[in-house]
Amino acid sequence: MARTPHVVGVSGSPTAPSRTTVLVDEVARSFAEATGGTSTTIELAPLLAELGAAPFRSGLSPRVQQALETVEAADVIVVGSPAYRATYTGLFKLFFDHIGQYALVDKPIVLTATGGSDRHALLVEHQMRPLFGFFQSLTLPLGIYASESDFRDYAISSDDLRERINTTVSRTLPLLRSHIDPESLGGFNWLSQHLDREVFSDGDGGLEQEDQRSARECASAVACGSGVASADALARAA
Ligand SMILES: Cc1cc2nc3c(=O)[nH]c(=O)nc-3n(C[C@H](O)[C@H](O)[C@H](O)COP(=O)(O)O)c2cc1C
Repeated sequence: MARTPHVVGVSGSPTAPSRTTVLVDEVARSFAEATGGTSTTIELAPLLAELGAAPFRSGLSPRVQQALETVEAADVIVVGSPAYRATYTGLFKLFFDHIGQYALVDKPIVLTATGGSDRHALLVEHQMRPLFGFFQSLTLPLGIYASESDFRDYAISSDDLRERINTTVSRTLPLLRSHIDPESLGGFNWLSQHLDREVFSDGDGGLEQEDQRSARECASAVACGSGVASADALARAA
């Protein structure tokens, strides 16, 4: 039976309240509304100490494990981070360090960030997009960057930002629709449906089921990353 897509937001701000969380939540809800799905936003701020408690996923708290599993099971992910020293926060990276190496293959990702000014807006393109290229995810072509002046009292106050969110949703909807067509949702999880699997070490002394075809054919994230996935999905959308 067809199911509705679930959009999961991840806010990498270490503070609460947080402009980034407000932005991520708004974008996740907009995508959920446009795709007829549901959304959840995960704030990493409350998980700050727990994420630093162990080097490997198996040693992390049940709360963190749950958050990781929720992100890995999402149909669409909206990620967001404040600019800290011109890149995403260490907290944001720490969380994604624990996501399975092949858990986000072909997964649609919406990139967002906030900053004190527009000076570091390109962190979306130059820091975030390559990270999700490593994961071989389908990063959507339009990212959203907002500066402090786009918010008042931790609410979006800028019509221009709202317009950019609407534009991002409407321009990427055809691509998303082709990718998360409810008729094909059963086949949407590549790892469980389409690909051979092999078992190899996850560096934690344990074993992890992984994507044999990706390992064999995708020698580098550059060759098999978001660019290739985007072209493929765009062709299917046409
Ligand atoms: C440690 C630290 C480093 C920061 N570095 C930058 C930066 O390099 N560029 C920038 O535009 N803003 C920088 N900022 C400002 C934050 O990115 C900005 O206030 C952001 O909107 C905060 O998001 P939040 O409310 O979600 O925490 C920095 C703030 C902090 C606390």
